[in-house]
This record gives sequence, C-alpha cells and structure tokens, in this order.
Amino acid sequence: MACDLTPQYRPAFHYTPAANWMNDPNGLVFHQGRYHLFYQYHPDGPTWGPMHWGHATSTDLLHWQEHPVALAPDALGMIFSGSAVVDHDNRSGLGAEGVAPLVAMFTHHRPADAQAGVASLEQQSLAVSLDDGRTWVKFEGNPVLPNPGLKDFRDPKLCWLAARQRWLAVVACGDCMRFYSSPDLKSWALESQFTHDLGSDGVWECGDLFPLHDAAGATWWVLLVSVTLGGPNGGSSTLYFIGDFDGHRFTPLDTQIRWLDFGPDNYAGVTWSGVDERALFIGWMSNWLYAASVPTSPWRSAMTMPRELQLRMSEDGPRVASVPARELLSLQGPATLALREVSLPLPLDLDAGLRAAVGVFVLRLEIDALRSFSLSLGSPGGDELLIGYDRDRTAWFIDRRRAGRVDFHPQFAGCHSAPRLATAPQSDLQLYVDATSVELFADDGLTAMTCLFFPREPFASMTLSSTDGLKLGALAVHPLGAGRGS
Ligand code: FRU
Repeated sequence: MACDLTPQYRPAFHYTPAANWMNDPNGLVFHQGRYHLFYQYHPDGPTWGPMHWGHATSTDLLHWQEHPVALAPDALGMIFSGSAVVDHDNRSGLGAEGVAPLVAMFTHHRPADAQAGVASLEQQSLAVSLDDGRTWVKFEGNPVLPNPGLKDFRDPKLCWLAARQRWLAVVACGDCMRFYSSPDLKSWALESQFTHDLGSDGVWECGDLFPLHDAAGATWWVLLVSVTLGGPNGGSSTLYFIGDFDGHRFTPLDTQIRWLDFGPDNYAGVTWSGVDERALFIGWMSNWLYAASVPTSPWRSAMTMPRELQLRMSEDGPRVASVPARELLSLQGPATLALREVSLPLPLDLDAGLRAAVGVFVLRLEIDALRSFSLSLGSPGGDELLIGYDRDRTAWFIDRRRAGRVDFHPQFAGCHSAPRLATAPQSDLQLYVDATSVELFADDGLTAMTCLFFPREPFASMTLSSTDGLKLGALAVHPLGAGRGS
C-alpha cells in the first residue's frame, strides 16, 4: 500500500480508499450481514479518469475493508454510477442453483471522440455476482436499457415495488428523472418522467426514490436529485422533492426546492437497498468545484458518515431530516467534557475536552435559549474554523475562510450558511468532527451541513462565545474512536 503523504488528513471514521481518486457511492446493498459500498474510482491516479467501481464492505458502517476493483471499463465504455440489489427470487434468471444473485445496474459511458466525430453515449447495463459481491460478471446482453437519444442518461437507482411486483429504475436525464420498470431487471419500460425548473444550468444526476413514514404513519415518497451546479452554498449539491408515487408516476406535493444538506461537501448520496426499516444514506464528501484540488495524498475524497433520513413535520410542511446512523454511537468514548446549565455572557474555554478527544469528536449542545453564538476551533499558528448560529439571519453557519489551507482552489474558502428550519426557542446541535470535516446536525437533523477543512496543524483550542445570552441545558464532548481501518 502506498504510504500516506498527508497522514494528518486521513479521516478516522470516514471511508477513504487507501489510494487514488473516488467520487459517488455506488451499488449500496446490504447482504448477508455486510454493507457493500461500491464507488466511482480511478485506480490509476489521484484525479478523475476512466471510471471503475471500487469496493469496500463493513459489518457496522464504520470499519471498512477495501477490496479489489469490482467493475472495470470495457468495449462499451467506462463504468459510471449505479446501484445494486439482491434478486431474492431470481426473477432475472441470473442466479444459480440455490444462490440469489446480487445484481448491479450501472451506466456504461462511452466518451466522445472529437476526432472521429462521435458523441458520448450513456446506456444502462447489468453485472452479476454469485459470491456475495466478491467477483462480478457483466451480463452478455448489455446494454439492457439503450440510450433513447439523450445526451445525459445515467446513474440508475433500483428499488423493488412490492405492490406491482416490478423493479423500478430512476435514471437521471440531464434536466429530469425518468422512471423505468421491469419484471426481471433485463427488459425495461418507460413509466414516466419528472422535471422542475431549478433556475440553474445544473445537470440532474444520481436520483433516488424511497418512501418515508411520518409520525402519524402516513407514507411520503422522497425523490433525491443531485445537481452539478446551483447548490445553496455554490457548486454541486443534493436536493429533494416530497410527494406521492403511485407505482408509475411521481407527483410532488409542491415544487419547493428543499436541500438535503446545506453544506458544500455532500454530493451524489443515495440510500442502501436491502435495509427496509430505515433509509440509510451516504454521500460523497466533496464538491465538483474543487474535488480534484483538495490537498490529500495519495487518496482523494472521503464519504460522509452514514446517516438515517427521517420524515419530520415542520412549520412549513414535511421535511427530510438527517440524523447520524445509530452505529456511530459505538465509536463514542466517555465524555471528555460535560457541563450542565451554562449561560454564556463570556467565552467558554473547552480546550480540555478537545485535547482529550484528540481532534476527533462529537460535540452536543442542548440549547434552552438559542441566541447568536460561535464555536471557534483554533490552532497555535492562527488557523480558525468557526461554527455557530446567527440570530439576525436565523441561520447556522460554518466559516472555513481562515481554517487552514484554502489556497488550492479559488472557490474553496467561504462562510457557508443554512437556514434554521425550526422556530422553537430551544434547539439542539451535534457536530461530528474528523480530521478534515465537520458534519452539523441542528434541530434534530432538520438542518444538516457538511464541510471540509484542511488545518495546517491540528486544532488545539476550542472556545464557545456568545454576547447574546445563549443558554445551554447541557454541553458534552465525546471522543470518537477510529472506524475506517481498511
Ligand atoms: C456524479 C457523476 C455521475 C456519473 C459519475 C461519473 O458525481 O457525475 O452522474 O455517473 O459522477 O464519475
């Protein structure tokens, strides 16, 4: 294995490949006690290149084992994003005696060849594994869903429609999502398409469709759409529509654009198949604006931490909240700092809690009266990451402008903000901090933000300040043990 040239930036509990470039999560499927994470991977370099599917597995979503590349380019092109399912009843006929096949559906992307005057071509293909994902064989009848004349036609996300006894594939088509159905994963029929003017030139990518239940037990269908441009804080980002799906057509409740995560660094995320009781999600923790320039070596990019998506009723209707997957609790050590009933006219020094947690920790605030405040993570050399709440703008924020290395790309530095979507005077905040990332979950996950940073030296001080009368019911810092371990 290549040795780390930037070991200080290797995350402790986020998945990274040992070396080389990674983007979208692909083929998320839970099978026989193991979570599979495939991903867009360029095994020959630290920037995007001919796409393969890399592969890792985990039994707990935290400790990942990296495996050999699962799918490599062939005569039909590169292997772009897609999904995987267990075909329990062998409806595809691709299984073997007593073995339900794992079936992956992915995009074959043939790049344009300007000299030959040939445009790019995207079409959907299958691959099958009969040994629990270890080895994959591409289906000889590929492509199973040829291109219908669209420039963008990719990232098929499969789900099983029990009511119709059909598979459904959501396919991203430039400025819309198309829904295709199939009895056997091999022959596909167009059901419908959904579009909405997002007001930007962003390309629709990596769709996902799944049901969530509200507290009253009603079912809502959520359509995830990742867009290459126009995110709330610039660049690529993931939004969702909420509505109804009748097995053929998605009908949104309204056309409001709701962002799944307001931070700049959560893209192309989708949910696991084979996990029925919860919508388990992971995203690519980067942004197409600067992903190829982030100063890590010999790997580039990490996944977000695993999250559960839940439906909540807010003042302005249903919302998808993001909460840390419960597995994260198993990484949590005893509190290195725990305070109760704190009122904050003065800066509060939290250094002890930070030092004992060696920079990888979760900080939780139970807030009795939410006011403007700012949490500063600082290094002796003057790098400073600020995270907080601005009452005048009713917005959470993460300011990485002075948090260390920002020089590698002109669009990396920024003070990113997210609206508060709750109105109660009380609030709660969880910050999961790893070597180069913070993931913020506020108001029980109604607002989520994911943000990378690259400090020049480890943060050694942590201070909470508010001149506005913030009142805390409780504050706790817990170290998070290493997870990644491949
Ligand atoms: C999203 C995406 C997908 C595509 C893949 C290529 O980040 O652009 O639409 O399949 O990445 O690597």
